[in-house]
Amino acid sequence: MLRRILLAASASPRLRQIVTTAPTTRAIVDSYVAGETADDAVRVTRALRAAGLLVSLDYLGEDTKDLAQASAVADEYVQLLGKLAADGLTHGGAAEVSVKPTAVGLFLGTAVAAENIGRICAAAREAGTTVTLDAEEHAAIEPTLRIAADLRAEYADLGCVIQACLRRSEADCRPLAGHGVRVRLCKGAYSEPDAVAFTARRDVDASYARCLRTLMNGPGYPMLATHDPRLIEITSSLAVLTGRASASFEYQMLYGIRPAEQRRLADTGARMRVYVPYGGDWYAYLVRRLAERPANLAFFLRSLRSNT
Ligand code: FDA
Repeated sequence: MLRRILLAASASPRLRQIVTTAPTTRAIVDSYVAGETADDAVRVTRALRAAGLLVSLDYLGEDTKDLAQASAVADEYVQLLGKLAADGLTHGGAAEVSVKPTAVGLFLGTAVAAENIGRICAAAREAGTTVTLDAEEHAAIEPTLRIAADLRAEYADLGCVIQACLRRSEADCRPLAGHGVRVRLCKGAYSEPDAVAFTARRDVDASYARCLRTLMNGPGYPMLATHDPRLIEITSSLAVLTGRASASFEYQMLYGIRPAEQRRLADTGARMRVYVPYGGDWYAYLVRRLAERPANLAFFLRSLRSNT
């Protein structure tokens, strides 16, 4: 409930202004975001790679309202991929990119987003790596999955994301698992209505476990994105049960969350990828991270009060 209220309140320009200008915000942003520039992203990627972790980079921003901005976001990814490749970080998909379809123009038209994503896929291929399309609010899911399916005719390794919270997700998993696609499974970070989503935590977790089983039993490449110790445990048990080689699936976590667990999993020989956001447009991302952990939110609100 608290999570829903916070996500709804985050649309308020007044709250946005308070959060983005509070002196205390910077330290919290720095714990979740690699920095403002592509060079910051490359520096953090280098450090994570040195620690044996894989990386997916996200240039922050979403819901782009004009064509020039959508194209500029795609340009940023193309440049980032060039820098990562020049640094030897993309080899074998070690560092890849995650793209939000609404950041590259999904709400300006499917063709706009598809064109920009195609450009990023071409640059990723040139760099020897892959692209994953993030999942956003439920209105964006159908066009995102359609773009991914179309582009996969040319870029078979284009990944997509399934949010366990959506009622449709179990059905979405089956064909994706059957076709051997790279699929990231997460719980879902957006506030969705009951009509389309499970809202009770235990129902979301049960849906995650069902989707997980489908993906792990298929011939594809599952990417299990969660910090939840129970779901991580279920994943490793399922890997043993289904006889999956450690190279045939990966764990994923967010930059700044459970770093010791990230290293522990990598040390077991598992593929462990860290999702690293960078850029100046961090507000919506920060709110989602605060909303999913009441302890973070309470700490943040207390520090806001003492600074405003
Ligand atoms: P849950 O929220 O139950 O957390 C389990 C435990 O993890 C907590 O008890 C706590 O210890 C720790 N934890 C979780 N969040 C924390 C936080 N913010 N700060 C500190 N500790 C925290 N969503 C989406 O809608 N579309 C997408 O494309 C993606 N992409 C994505 C990529 C990757 C790599 C990850 C890890 C996650 C996403 N997500 C996402 C976000 C995802 O949907 C979800 O909101 C968060 O991962 C939190 O859910 P958990 O599965 O971690 O469980």
